[in-house]
Amino acid sequence: MKDILEELEARRADARAGGGEKRIAAQHAKGKLTARERLDLLLDEGSFEEFDMFVTHRCTDFGMQDTRMSGDGVVTGWGTINGRMVYVFSQDFTVFGGSLSETHAQKICKIMDMAVQNGAPVIGLNDSGGARIQEGVASLAGYADVFQKNVLASGVVPQISVIMGPCAGGAVYSPAMTDFIFMVRDSSYMFVTGPDVVKTVTNEIVTAEELGGARTHTVKSSVADGAFENDVEALIEVRRLVDLLPLNNREKPPVRPFFDDPARVENSLDTLVPDNANQPYDMKELILKVADEGDFYEIQAEFAKNIITGFIRLEGSTVGVVANQPMVLAGCLDIDSSRKAARFVRFCDAFEIPILTFVDVPGFLPGTGQEYGGVIKHGAKLLFAYGEATVPKVTVITRKAYGGAYDVMASKHLRGDFNYAWPTAEIAVMGAKGAVEILYRSELGDPEKIAARTAEYEERFANPFVAAEKGFIDEVIMPHSTRRRVSRAFASLRGKKLTNPWKKHDNIPL
Ligand code: HXC
Repeated sequence: MKDILEELEARRADARAGGGEKRIAAQHAKGKLTARERLDLLLDEGSFEEFDMFVTHRCTDFGMQDTRMSGDGVVTGWGTINGRMVYVFSQDFTVFGGSLSETHAQKICKIMDMAVQNGAPVIGLNDSGGARIQEGVASLAGYADVFQKNVLASGVVPQISVIMGPCAGGAVYSPAMTDFIFMVRDSSYMFVTGPDVVKTVTNEIVTAEELGGARTHTVKSSVADGAFENDVEALIEVRRLVDLLPLNNREKPPVRPFFDDPARVENSLDTLVPDNANQPYDMKELILKVADEGDFYEIQAEFAKNIITGFIRLEGSTVGVVANQPMVLAGCLDIDSSRKAARFVRFCDAFEIPILTFVDVPGFLPGTGQEYGGVIKHGAKLLFAYGEATVPKVTVITRKAYGGAYDVMASKHLRGDFNYAWPTAEIAVMGAKGAVEILYRSELGDPEKIAARTAEYEERFANPFVAAEKGFIDEVIMPHSTRRRVSRAFASLRGKKLTNPWKKHDNIPL
């Protein structure tokens, strides 16, 4: 009996050693942690339960029968984050470069199936040379099996990908179908074809970092939702995010203890909006002042900064925030900001996270660049996302809500539950200058007349009361009481039940 126990211990030690000391040292030399070190940081201490530690590949080509390593390049299992269950896989670059074999894929599929069945998020730590070259099409089949699981799990349990090394070729498409992608600066990259192929095909000379590093994907492509300095920071931030999310689509978001008065008055908000309507102000100040303990988890902070998306808590419960940012492009909607916000709104709706929208939007960005790029279709994504969302929706218009953008930004007409406006709100078809230039074109040569017309238009429309008279605004509220009003609104909506007509699925303008 003792021998058997010792053998188990020896086998375990062998599996835990991964690709051996030399390869672990090489991993560390690149500033990267090993697959198991990463899981130790991600999960609560001692909570990890491993599956399939002794699985090996079945390949017999290229002399592979002589090189079998326990675990086959991926560590899988489940554990807890602040006591809440998550399923995990962590690719081990020290074993065949973390490359994906048939059995490696089966291990990932197994934990994904269990995650869906048991209703817990899947977190994938990606660090892999891609398809196991020696296995050929068996490896490609393994990828496709994982892709299919990603699709079926989408909207059922949250899926989070952390890119902590190479992720190239078709391998990028599994993370791409998950809810959030985070990258580590300078040690991770994602691309469909690498720099060498790019050079051959397009003659472009580009480094891996420029082509698919964290900066590229958080600033330019928006493939990734956030970038962190190193493995440790990335894993700590994933823990923070998981704390905000429900475990599955059948549960409400978690409620945490809070130490912040929901009725807290913020007098400084009464002067947040400048007197001059063309002067910007920082919408983040409002978000931070409304949130419990000023805590805001921003998603896609570096992309389409004219709209802000992220999570806060109100009375301890998670709320998704979408807010126009007047500091960037005057807070207008354009292709990028519409896409960014639409995806965020759909995530919130899929996982029963209520949505708080702060509006200061002068309209859609004009121009051929936008029209040729399909702003009609992309803008419609956000409109569609808000319109189909059945979660509680609370909207506060702080200043401008012009034109179609007024309708889009969680207006009453898109089934907004509470639509508030500050006294500084201006709800109209367009700004005074543009309106007067169209309505009184014949008087444009006379500045005095135009000034009088502009003043008249502002007097009539540059306020929230016309909309309030029609019931499109439920209440005009004092800026300083926004936290209290919004918290009470969401509290009153906890029992909200709203369903859309039955359908197989909708046809959002992709
Ligand atoms: C098998 C692989 C491998 C792979 C790396 N290794 N990639 N083994 N299949 N795809 C092994 C290496 O042989 C080496 O083994 C160890 O992993 C570490 O690799 P190094 O090259 O020494 O590491 P490094 O210099 O850091 O370079 C990492 C790398 C490079 C850039 C990822 O290994 C590389 O270019 N690999 C091939 C990438 C690739 O073309 N993959 C297929 C893409 S197509 P030893 O024993 O020496 O430690 C694809 C399609 C997916 O993925 C399609 C899905 C539909």
